[in-house]
Amino acid sequence: MTKENVARAPQPPETSTFDELESNVQSYARSFPVIFDKAEGSYLYDENGRKYIDFLAGAGSLNYGHNNPYLREKLIEYISSCGITHSLDMHSTAKEKFLSTFNELILAPRGLDYVAQFTGPTGTNAVEAALKLARNIKGRHNIIAFTNGFHGVSLGAMAATGNSHHRGAAGLPLSGVTHMPYCSYFGDELDTISYMEKMLDDPSSGVDHPAAVIVETVQGEGGLNVASTRWLQALEKVCRKRDMLLIIDDIQAGCGRTGTFFSFEPAGIKPDIVTLSKSLSGYGIPFALTIFRPELDEWKPGEHNGTFRGNNHAFVTAAAALEHYWKDDSFAAEVREKADLLGEKLREIGADYDDELIKPRGRGIMQGLNCHSGKLAADICRRAFRKGLVIETSGSESQVVKCLPPLTTPREVMIEALGILREAVKEAIESYRPGASRAA
Ligand SMILES: Cc1ncc(COP(=O)(O)O)c(C=O)c1O
Repeated sequence: MTKENVARAPQPPETSTFDELESNVQSYARSFPVIFDKAEGSYLYDENGRKYIDFLAGAGSLNYGHNNPYLREKLIEYISSCGITHSLDMHSTAKEKFLSTFNELILAPRGLDYVAQFTGPTGTNAVEAALKLARNIKGRHNIIAFTNGFHGVSLGAMAATGNSHHRGAAGLPLSGVTHMPYCSYFGDELDTISYMEKMLDDPSSGVDHPAAVIVETVQGEGGLNVASTRWLQALEKVCRKRDMLLIIDDIQAGCGRTGTFFSFEPAGIKPDIVTLSKSLSGYGIPFALTIFRPELDEWKPGEHNGTFRGNNHAFVTAAAALEHYWKDDSFAAEVREKADLLGEKLREIGADYDDELIKPRGRGIMQGLNCHSGKLAADICRRAFRKGLVIETSGSESQVVKCLPPLTTPREVMIEALGILREAVKEAIESYRPGASRAA
């Protein structure tokens, strides 16, 4: 750290407004104890004007950066012209534009025929709708979810979530879900699809015939575990053979994060139901969507509802984001190039240490470093923050340092941020287990 940076390093704010008036439930605020004030592109600024590179991006909600000028312009134009803000689920021009743009630029070119259900505004709402629909269609309660999966913290979604920290707060038994081991959960030795098939086919396994399987192709909160193409294809076959619906939860890995709009595209699978949220609005505006094959649309009017379903401001920015970034493959190609850069830099960092201390993992622009412990990962993130990089952990023991920058982050900013990360790793490892570095 330079002398200048030491002098300007962030200090916990003296104000106790948040301590006094905000619940203990706050979490990210504990990792980044400053008061943020402004944000632009790949940067956040605290109230003292200190600049931070953002490698958290609203947990994947800001794929196109903070205050993206193109989207901001469209939103301001819409608001200034007295465009509808709230309309329940009534038709609006903004919704019509979003639906037709989403169909024209995303679904149709990928050969996907889905209808859209606008759910409540956050990811967990989209997951609840998906699970409820699947259960109603199949007339079965059980859902297969996977170890380390994260699907939200409302009761239905949380039952499908693995993390005991979240599950422990439910206050009720979490039921209706059987957890199976995710791809490579036991390393390379055990094929977890064969294991699952055995459990499903054995009438005495204790697993009730599931209505559906819900899965992330890359487990964002679960520690950047990646499902292989072969595994996803085999999973789809398991579903087809046993009359189970395949739900892909693309809330974090979707919207371009892995280098294609949907994260499941490279696997060539066709899920029955897909959930999207986070970066779908493109501007950080709450917005969630459950899409599914038209034949599955067994909802009766208003059977699943909510006051804030489909946010007109989000329709405007989402449609603008699709038009701006998804008209052709050039943005996605850029994302893939930056993903390669990210992987390369993380491998360079990892090459200095034993795999058990630090090992790169992930896919697309959701890659990171699996650390020896949550303590080490937390120390790396704390040191990175002091040097001006906002970066968080994920994983069952919070042991994975997760790089989740806006996809629009320029290459040179990625390189700068990864340089900061490299320094933070070096310092943290030196104080964690002195002498562990093989680097001179
Ligand atoms: C894959 C996945 N599904 C669902 C959710 C829940 O979304 P939300 O926090 O918006 O309810 C998340 C949040 O991180 C997620 O990563």
